[in-house]
Amino acid sequence: MKNIVSYLLITLLPLSFFAQNNSIEVGKDERSWNIYTKSSTYKLKVDRNNIVQVVYYGNKLEPDRDVKDWEYWGNEIPVRGGFVNSKSILEVIFPDGVRDIELEYKKYEITDIGGYKTIKITQQDKYYPLEVNSFIRILPEYDFIEKWIEVRNLGKKGSIKIEKLSSGSIFLPDNAYELTHFSGIWGHEFTPQTTRLTQGTKTIEVKDFKSYGSSTFMIRPEKENDRYNGKVWFGTFTYSGNWRLDFDKSFYGKIQVTGGINFWDQEVYLKPLQSFTTPVMIYGYTEEGTNGVTQNLASYSREKLLPQTYRDKVRPVLYNSWYATAMDVNEEQQLALAREAKNMGVEMFVIDDGWFKGRIDEKSGLGDWTVDKNKFPNGLNSLIEKVNAMGLQFGLWIEPEMVNPNSDLYRAHPDWVFYFPNRTRHEGRNQLILNLAREDVYQYLYKSLNKVLKENNIKFIKWDMNRHMTDPGFASAPAEEQRAVRIKYVENLYRLVESLRKDFPEVWFENCSSGGGRIDLGMISRYDFNWVSDNTDPVDRIFIQDSYLTLFPANTMISWVTHEDWHKLNPSLEFKFDVCMAGVLGVGYDITKWNDAQKQVAKKKIEQYKEIREVIHKGKTYRIVSPFDENRSILQYVSVNQKEVVVFVYNLGEYPRQSVEENRRSKLTKLKGLLPDATYKIEDMNSTYTGKYLMEVGIYFPVGGAYNSHIYSIKAL
Ligand code: DGJ
Repeated sequence: MKNIVSYLLITLLPLSFFAQNNSIEVGKDERSWNIYTKSSTYKLKVDRNNIVQVVYYGNKLEPDRDVKDWEYWGNEIPVRGGFVNSKSILEVIFPDGVRDIELEYKKYEITDIGGYKTIKITQQDKYYPLEVNSFIRILPEYDFIEKWIEVRNLGKKGSIKIEKLSSGSIFLPDNAYELTHFSGIWGHEFTPQTTRLTQGTKTIEVKDFKSYGSSTFMIRPEKENDRYNGKVWFGTFTYSGNWRLDFDKSFYGKIQVTGGINFWDQEVYLKPLQSFTTPVMIYGYTEEGTNGVTQNLASYSREKLLPQTYRDKVRPVLYNSWYATAMDVNEEQQLALAREAKNMGVEMFVIDDGWFKGRIDEKSGLGDWTVDKNKFPNGLNSLIEKVNAMGLQFGLWIEPEMVNPNSDLYRAHPDWVFYFPNRTRHEGRNQLILNLAREDVYQYLYKSLNKVLKENNIKFIKWDMNRHMTDPGFASAPAEEQRAVRIKYVENLYRLVESLRKDFPEVWFENCSSGGGRIDLGMISRYDFNWVSDNTDPVDRIFIQDSYLTLFPANTMISWVTHEDWHKLNPSLEFKFDVCMAGVLGVGYDITKWNDAQKQVAKKKIEQYKEIREVIHKGKTYRIVSPFDENRSILQYVSVNQKEVVVFVYNLGEYPRQSVEENRRSKLTKLKGLLPDATYKIEDMNSTYTGKYLMEVGIYFPVGGAYNSHIYSIKAL
């Protein structure tokens, strides 16, 4: 499958230190393997019946010294067949109707992929021509391994039908555990959920392409809830289609975690000599609490996954006109906004929905990716040239995967959408989903978007996707391919954005799906940023951002200052800016209506942001106080050299009966990630402090009053 190839190419890097490091040891009989990350050991062995077994996953052990005989935990590739003692991750039907698999070990090979040791273990069915290659790529410094599986039909005739194929499975030692995952709905993305794992199966799944949550999970032994210490098994799926995770606690006490493509209403046929490769599932183990998970996953995204062109660059300050003008756009009014945006320090001016042919409202236009001549009689270039002349770059919104029935595209090709004959074509937001699994649809989108980008000086694309998947029919495809349609769709989605990025390497790409409906490491490896939520209320946003920053790096988190005030609290403009400055800052107000005082605030805040954004975009983020725990939130960013620090303090409520002195005592904030022996000076404060003092004793940040905030710049002297 091409997904895996592009994911791995994206992560391909020069040989790293760890490539030479001993991240894998092979047993003397070449039938066992010890896999090491910074904190963990994963051990596999082949038993006398030629079954590849998992015998350990947890804190670092020196296996061959610590233990002689290893107990069986589970099969590395649990299949449907024989005694089913765990969740199977591979289920097939052979051409003669036999449904059981009997795998036996054949060989192994160790290679380097992108500078990281990777073991490939080959197993085969004892009778049928089915080969299963399971891969484990070891990323020691991020404390995780990546797993994926390639399945081959080695036969000369007959298709093997895959009914289920996950990317991997792990087992955790017997214990009582708590699972934390992140779920959500529109406007309330990534809400943390914590639950005890009791006997039985807990499933988290996406069936329709949008989740508003995440496939990232964290499993801790019960009662270990120090954010910075303690064992956590974690993982995430690097894929943007339908996915499924199962957490299965057996009668005996072990937990098995399986994850991969959701094979609900999906099947893949392997014709003779064909193969299928799954996307990558990440599985990790840290002893640094859930903060360890954040640091590992965010650093990996920032350092290895994000598209290479802009991976190490600071992000521009954006203006997006959606909240100001919605779809009612024209040259004069956009130029007026651009002038104000430029005056306050914005660097990238983006027109959202509404610029293309026939787009007067949500009922029409999607699919026709040419400029609307009624709204822009001189074309877009006339506007872009003027915007560029002001010193701003220009960006545009698109929603390529969709079509309105009221569009030239749909009138010409009503069969290009997902539909089942004799069934309703369900519309969501008055739109249908284009069947991107079709090559003609792919070619149409590639050519029309390429043309828009070629003909206009566009430096930024906001790529939206605004509805859940329904009616995934592909009646014109051969019967054996019809239920693989979602997999092919995602393959072509990735191919489309990758092709456009290749043709226009200087264009930034933002991923959006009615807010944060489709954010995962598959998207992070192809888009530079995410629109995190349509909820731009600053108070709600503090919660959403706290969760987002648990999972992803700050330089991918776009936040706009807008007029929205869902809680009717009338917060100050300064507070709104402070919230949005914790990631990639944008402005979304109708700024032509602002008075001088508002413009001054915006100007000062953008100036301040430009001074600190290098630390925010390139440094590490620590969620020092989570709003889910207290009535305030404190975020800390530390530069790579640990000498520059930015602290955001947001106060969400007051403790009226407490005196200032009591507040002081109860609110000492301990910082993280500093140089213990360096002396730090905090802007706006007189004293200096050693890193050790700030980390072990902590200081009082005097931010009082509800919906007040302050950003502290701290520097090593
Ligand atoms: C949904 C997005 O989340 C919004 O930001 C905006 O782009 C609209 N779509 C436009 O239709």
